[in-house]
Amino acid sequence: MNETVEMIIDGKPLVLPTVTGSEGEVGIDISSLRNKTGCITLDPAYGNTGACESAVTFIDGELGILRYRGYDIAELAEKSTFIETSYLIIYGELPTRAQLTEFSNLLSENQMLHEGMRFHFEGFPSTAHPMAILSSMINAASSYHPNIISKREERFPYHAARLISQVRTIAAFSYRKAHGLPAIYPKSNLKYTANFLHMMFSLPNEDCELKPEIVKALDLIFLLHADHEQNCSTSTVRMVASSKANLFASAAAGVCALWGPLHGGANQAVLEMLEEIHQEGDDGSKFLNEVKNKIGNRKLMGFGHRVYKNFDPRAVIIKNQCDKVLAQLHKSDPLLDIAKKLEEIALNDDYFISRKLYPNVDFYSGIIMRAIGIPLDMFTVMFAIGRMPGWIANYKEVMEDPDGRIARPRQIYTGPTQRSYAALETR
Ligand code: SDX
Repeated sequence: MNETVEMIIDGKPLVLPTVTGSEGEVGIDISSLRNKTGCITLDPAYGNTGACESAVTFIDGELGILRYRGYDIAELAEKSTFIETSYLIIYGELPTRAQLTEFSNLLSENQMLHEGMRFHFEGFPSTAHPMAILSSMINAASSYHPNIISKREERFPYHAARLISQVRTIAAFSYRKAHGLPAIYPKSNLKYTANFLHMMFSLPNEDCELKPEIVKALDLIFLLHADHEQNCSTSTVRMVASSKANLFASAAAGVCALWGPLHGGANQAVLEMLEEIHQEGDDGSKFLNEVKNKIGNRKLMGFGHRVYKNFDPRAVIIKNQCDKVLAQLHKSDPLLDIAKKLEEIALNDDYFISRKLYPNVDFYSGIIMRAIGIPLDMFTVMFAIGRMPGWIANYKEVMEDPDGRIARPRQIYTGPTQRSYAALETR
């Protein structure tokens, strides 16, 4: 495409520069539009609007491509680990052995919460949703380390490691609190995901069994969720970071955005949907008819995506893992059978085909999490743990942008034009 585009606004020609990305996608740079024409663009939900240039993740929604820093998700899923991939996403390169060891040591050194945090946990009711606890405790954690605010840049590697490490500890503690169980502290001899499962399921007098297949399955879930370009929660993190808020405040905002059932909350909503279908003895046909006829504004949760108009490559990987993990655990799950039936019907139904609706990352992930014992209300927390390196990498990009400015979108005002105050007795 040319380096400029030309348009006619109010009968006058306007030439705007274009920006071409490393994978050939083209953006029209409209940063001078309002100064030159007095107009702004309008793009609710930003379906056509690029908010930034980023070097972290590339998605091609038409071809179903997902790459972290140029590495294809299927290759990383097969050959890498969540922590190695986290380093790649944050720092841009696969780590050397020395760099990986240093990063892992930083995670271990920063895995304990300040003991004062226990009082915050005590204050939550047992009914508190773990996502509510997670977002508030991430901000609370920063209160015990003032240099998270005062020494943002120079201490970034420590703050990033602390956040990745402690989000796991906070998540496990929130689960234990909600279930009236004593907190289990991390162990220095366990790697990231094994340590999380230890904190979730061990007892003070007995360590839980850490089956390698369960540890690997959860590590893969984390890896597959590690970043996804400018999704709702990552864009939220960048928006908050643009005001020069600290890393923990930006990540806490990301947790809140992720919680919604249209975003990260979908993995919990999928299982609730499958359970409802199962309870009704429906094979999925009745439910899909309600979706297609928009009865009760029902959606096939775990299906559809703003960017993927083809298969979400993560969903393909997770679906294949479902059968493998269930077989390894000698388990079967009727909800998996229902999910497969729903997919089979939907992929052959014009309602879904015409709208290019395919399974996304959330459609099958809950089946695996359920099989490895993760409770339903912790599903979106697993998504948040996985997405943390992506949020941190995007925060880092915002902080390192020499031309960075506070994000402040415009609007088209549709309210009342000017009018005078009316005295109370005249209203
Ligand atoms: C994630 O952005 C990311 O990258 C997100 C994510 C990440 O890694 O960060 O990939 C993670 O959030 C995945 C998505 C999880 N959410 C769900 O599974 C919830 C169910 N999906 C939908 O709500 C929806 O597909 C969205 C929210 C994912 C995308 O919504 P869009 O792009 O705004 O699409 P839309 O709502 O405009 O839908 C277009 C049409 C509409 O029908 P019509 O008005 O044309 O008749 O498709 C229909 C929608 O009603 N539609 C669905 C549907 N999704 C869209 N109909 C039934 N079931 C669905 N799931």
